[in-house]
Amino acid sequence: VLNWTPSWTSLWARHLSMHTIPKEKLPRHIACIMDGNGRWAHSRGLPRRAGHRAGADTVERCVDFCISHGIPWLTLYAFSSENWNRPKTEVQALMLLLHDFLKKRLREMKNKGVRLLAIGDTSRLPKRTRELLERSIEQTAGNTKINLVLALSYGSRAEIAGAARKIAEKISAGELHPDAITEETFGQYLDTAGMPDPDLLIRTSGEMRISNFLLWQISYAELYLTDTLWPDFSERDMEMAVKDYARRTRRFGGI
Ligand code: IPE
Ligand code: IPE
Ligand code: MG
Repeated sequence: VLNWTPSWTSLWARHLSMHTIPKEKLPRHIACIMDGNGRWAHSRGLPRRAGHRAGADTVERCVDFCISHGIPWLTLYAFSSENWNRPKTEVQALMLLLHDFLKKRLREMKNKGVRLLAIGDTSRLPKRTRELLERSIEQTAGNTKINLVLALSYGSRAEIAGAARKIAEKISAGELHPDAITEETFGQYLDTAGMPDPDLLIRTSGEMRISNFLLWQISYAELYLTDTLWPDFSERDMEMAVKDYARRTRRFGGI
């Protein structure tokens, strides 16, 4: 019993301090570039796919964290359009992992109130995985606790080019006037239409780049970079990122 006391106390203290952050200081939308799975596995002498598996547990932790602190949007960069260029065996392992993730965690997502969404060119996913994804999105559409957006086969430049294409088609069909294209209307042609822009962008594993993620949407996001590898990214790390965010002053170009 004695052994339990300190950890419960510190857990409670941490919980308390998160709850002392005023609601308006919390991010409404967190986006994560989940990086470092391969290095995590390599440092343990494990195959890269073991790192990806371990990374899936971090996803669970992040979802739980956001739910318990009332953060309504979480976007995770799970697979980029450029990741298709990885060796076939790794791509296959990642697709299998996605399939298993959806299959195993759908019921849990439903119980927790997770509304699943996806951005990216999901038509490139293996058929059975794409169908499972579509089913999961449909079956969680009514949930309201958290919006979990998976970026799958996602590339920001492709997304922006796609939006420009759709707009051009509408204009040439006479359905849209060029004057009607504003930042707001342009945003409606992106995969993220209807979603708020990320307030906080987290990248793990020490890399200092965006890697083609949400280029349009992160214009004024606060950046949080950490050396921690994604599979090691804990609830405590998430808390540190959010507390760091809460201390910042966002200026949006003003004074
Ligand atoms: C991130 O981990 C997961 C995906 C890109 C799918 P990596 O696989 O990029 O891991 P590192 O960067 O090689 O360590
Ligand atoms: C970005 O990580 C993509 C995902 C996290 C899914 P990468 O590992 O693919 O990015 P680079 O190659 O280091 O820029
Ligand atoms: Mg990487």
